[in-house]
Amino acid sequence: MVGRAGCYTPSFPAMRHQLVTVIDFGGQYTQLIVRRVRELGCYSEMVPWTKAAEHLAATPPDAVVLSGGPRSVHDAGAPDIDFSLLEGVPVLGICYGHQLMAHRLGGRVVKAIEREYGRRHLGRVKPGALVDGLTSDQVWMSHGDQVEAVPPGFVGTAETESCPIAAFEDRERRAFGVQFHPEVSHTPDGRTVLRRFLFDVAGLAGDWTSENFIQEATERVKAEVGDQRVLCAVSGGVDSSVVAALLTRALGDRVTCVFVDHGLLRKGEAEQVVETFTRLLHPRLVAIDAAGQFFAALRGVTEPEEKRKVIGAEFVRCFEAHADEFSDCAFLAQGTLYPDVIESGSGTSAKIKSHHNVGGLPDWMKLKVVEPLRWLFKDEVREVGRKLGLPEELVDREPFPGPGLAVRILGEVTPEAVRTVQEADWIFRSELRAAGLNRGVWQSYAALLADVRSVGVMGDERTYMNPIVLRAVESEDAMTAQASPLDIRFLERVCNRIVNEVPGVNRVLYDLTSKPPATIEWE
Ligand code: XMP
Repeated sequence: MVGRAGCYTPSFPAMRHQLVTVIDFGGQYTQLIVRRVRELGCYSEMVPWTKAAEHLAATPPDAVVLSGGPRSVHDAGAPDIDFSLLEGVPVLGICYGHQLMAHRLGGRVVKAIEREYGRRHLGRVKPGALVDGLTSDQVWMSHGDQVEAVPPGFVGTAETESCPIAAFEDRERRAFGVQFHPEVSHTPDGRTVLRRFLFDVAGLAGDWTSENFIQEATERVKAEVGDQRVLCAVSGGVDSSVVAALLTRALGDRVTCVFVDHGLLRKGEAEQVVETFTRLLHPRLVAIDAAGQFFAALRGVTEPEEKRKVIGAEFVRCFEAHADEFSDCAFLAQGTLYPDVIESGSGTSAKIKSHHNVGGLPDWMKLKVVEPLRWLFKDEVREVGRKLGLPEELVDREPFPGPGLAVRILGEVTPEAVRTVQEADWIFRSELRAAGLNRGVWQSYAALLADVRSVGVMGDERTYMNPIVLRAVESEDAMTAQASPLDIRFLERVCNRIVNEVPGVNRVLYDLTSKPPATIEWE
């Protein structure tokens, strides 16, 4: 695991649950393996192969999974680990991990005649603890090299059309390899393979539950913060709400929540945040109504990055203006999640939009950071939120950009433009919910093309008004996305309602563009 400063940090502190370490060889599905293992109730962490020795020594795991990877075991400098470190530990190698295990333990790996990619059928060769009697024989393959001879002590247990050793095992040693990917949905019974490894082979207890996490995180926060106070900025989003709820449970009224209402949230959301936090959490909420100040600062600003800068600066100004209300805080809570922790080490992506530019605090405040969710994936955060009693509308809330509706108004951000976009957005999303179409949608919203006007006719009158764009996308992680295939009759109904009910709008468009080449937001 890589810490914020790019340094190596050990596993979940005060760990009382078992640990499955997933060693990453650069595979595209490694994070997915970690998620699947956790879904099965076993806490899992991802460790780059370069840090494996250090991690295994610092936090001995109860089981290890070796991930896939793009390289060949025969390449110079190919990812590698010292298998003597894994002695006595149950191991499952997947794809590259399977090949590396064969290569290092005395088997033979060769270049495949053709690259095997896609769905294949798994056939049983010998009894296999992981692969016998699966409900589907379909498996997902993506590899060049393959294992030609198993290491001494191992037996090949399954094959595919073009891969003679698609699974092998040495039960005594509790070492297993599969060439296919049990973690992806294209391997329909992959969960069974993982479950058998974790429970039947490694004998794990399945002790990773949200209740246990809450218990452990509470203890950890208490130890970290001592008798000091924490400042927690809440935005109305899932992560900051769950952080606030968790900290409040641990520290009671030593948490000060600050909510800056920039006037750019969805219809009714600012009121809901204040209501939820005062009713459910505790009364020390500093709610700052700053809409007027943000609109004044945004006057005449139309360029997306400029909007983000203005909004970021205005947040800092708000905090400064209210600093005496939380000057007794020594810590600042942040809603960092596990994928941010994993990715903070890579630093490879180009800057498309400056996402983390809002909610920043003045530098002079010099607060220590507490990040109670840095071990969790988003779906785990939601589950923890539910267990902590947060309302379903909040826990289920879609990701929402920090600069809010400002980046969904193409043109100048005025109170009137915000009202227009809020009303259209409200209609679209209520209709989605009413039709049950919101399930499976990652984000859905209305955007206003404030700089565009088109001609229409309403009654007998000519109109010359702005268009609204509707966007609904499906995605796994916001890195890529496809437009949701909404029914045209449904869209027509939404369009009619918007044009009839929202003043200033005479046309509605549905955005079909995927990401890439577009982005999810319009700005
Ligand atoms: P894009 O538009 O880049 O968005 O495809 C990917 C995800 O990030 C959200 N987003 C933002 N979040 N500040 C944020 O906190 C921002 O400036 C910002 N811009 C986009 C977006 O809603 C999507 O979930």
